[in-house]
Amino acid sequence: LAALDRPVVLVSHRGPVTFAVEDGERTTKRGSGGLVSALMGLAGHLSDAIWVYAASSEEDRQVMTEAKGKAMRLALAPQARLVEDDASVTEHEHTIYAYLVDVPERQHEDFYSVISNPLLWFVQHGLYGLAQDPVLTERTREAFEDGYVPVNDQFSDVVVEQVRAVAGDRGRAIVMIHDYHFYLLAERVRAACPEALITQFIHIPWPSPNDWRILPPYMRERLLRGLLGNDVVAFHTLRDARNFLLCAADILDLSIDLGALTITVGERKVGARHYPISVNTEALRELAGSADVRRHAETLRRDFLTGGRQMVLRVDRTDPSKNIVRGFRAFDVLLSDHPELAGQVVFFALLQPSRQDVPEYADYISALGGVVAEVNARHGRDGWQPVQLRLESDLALAVAAYTVCDVLLVNAVRDGMNLVAKEAVLVSERDMVLVLSETTGAFDELSRYAVRAHPFDIQQQADAMYEALTMDVDRRRAWLREAAAIVRHNDVERWLDMQLRDLLRLDEDR
Ligand code: G6P
Repeated sequence: LAALDRPVVLVSHRGPVTFAVEDGERTTKRGSGGLVSALMGLAGHLSDAIWVYAASSEEDRQVMTEAKGKAMRLALAPQARLVEDDASVTEHEHTIYAYLVDVPERQHEDFYSVISNPLLWFVQHGLYGLAQDPVLTERTREAFEDGYVPVNDQFSDVVVEQVRAVAGDRGRAIVMIHDYHFYLLAERVRAACPEALITQFIHIPWPSPNDWRILPPYMRERLLRGLLGNDVVAFHTLRDARNFLLCAADILDLSIDLGALTITVGERKVGARHYPISVNTEALRELAGSADVRRHAETLRRDFLTGGRQMVLRVDRTDPSKNIVRGFRAFDVLLSDHPELAGQVVFFALLQPSRQDVPEYADYISALGGVVAEVNARHGRDGWQPVQLRLESDLALAVAAYTVCDVLLVNAVRDGMNLVAKEAVLVSERDMVLVLSETTGAFDELSRYAVRAHPFDIQQQADAMYEALTMDVDRRRAWLREAAAIVRHNDVERWLDMQLRDLLRLDEDR
């Protein structure tokens, strides 16, 4: 990894570890989502970094109170734990420092459940049917002014404090901000820490100027200006980086260079970059070999795969951007078009409930249950339920399902990257075929070795699943080998390394 001579401060909304109390004992739980999985994969390289994130449980707040306003030390791997005594850290443990920000509940709700998800998430994933949604009101403005803005202010105060603590008053640190929750952070951190190198990774798609204009001027301009406080704004794909530049030109009238991928902001140049994120291949391989995963895999084989049966799998958060309903509808079409598949193929959907305090997400989960019931009623018969729906979060079960499935369906409406696709190709033991939406970041890397899915065309998705289920074994094997090689090569360390190298170069140029 590129050698750094500056301390690193990471910022994200969701963190690697949350605390709880069970039977009077303090327990730790791993944070969820693609961002956290990816960053966790880097634990070994971030040993002195400070990770600033939001407290999300009562016990998180308790732990912070005990830390008396200081960052605390956390071991992330192999087992998450709070380090109370430095001497207890073993050489196998990867530790970081963590500072959990306690956001007032009302503000957090406006920040998270009104502005970040749904509004920003929906705009950036193209999820609104514009004839009717969104309807923005005075309440939206309030949620922005009294929720999103103060939460960003609160985080920037913490970040500035932490940067100064480790890097002195001028703040010679590297600050790595993550995602759409914090578009207003960089500008404030820059004002307070003139020597900080600041970069923000946006893990979700960046929309075209027309789509960004769905946001009212008071929001869209301010958010863009906030982001331009960064030295580098990073995305997973070139398309996102270009869209970001186009928005800066269209909405703020700034001068951009689409070749060099820079925006001129007064005397400064802000770079847009793209680095495709990935997974920690080593850790995943280990997990795939664990007893827990083997046991789950055995059960799945016994329950669903005897007698030459096949499995289509999907693993997702219950997020409208994942396009789960259309996936079930496409499976319905597949079974109608190919009656010979009756009893021969099962669609295993392992869905992790997500953001249930956001009405759009609660509605989406109800819709899912309805479609599954419909498809099962239409095609099911004694001893065979075509769709097996599990609403739970179980990493070992997900990895076990990757190892045994025949087809993985990733038909997302849009997805910044989609790490499920990358994880599955690494651990498949059954020459799995990937059916991959052309609007995911992963498609840019894996398109040659996947069956393309068009997110809105359910007949096409049904045909794609059929092609995948009936593909000859030599081709399946060759595709999987190539796809896995790509993922192994572009792993998460490389992802970080490329960013650090670019930052160091930028520092030298200064
Ligand atoms: C995506 C976002 C992350 C987010 C994750 C889980 O991966 O890029 O920022 O943390 O989804 O969503 P949640 O709302 O549960 O944090």
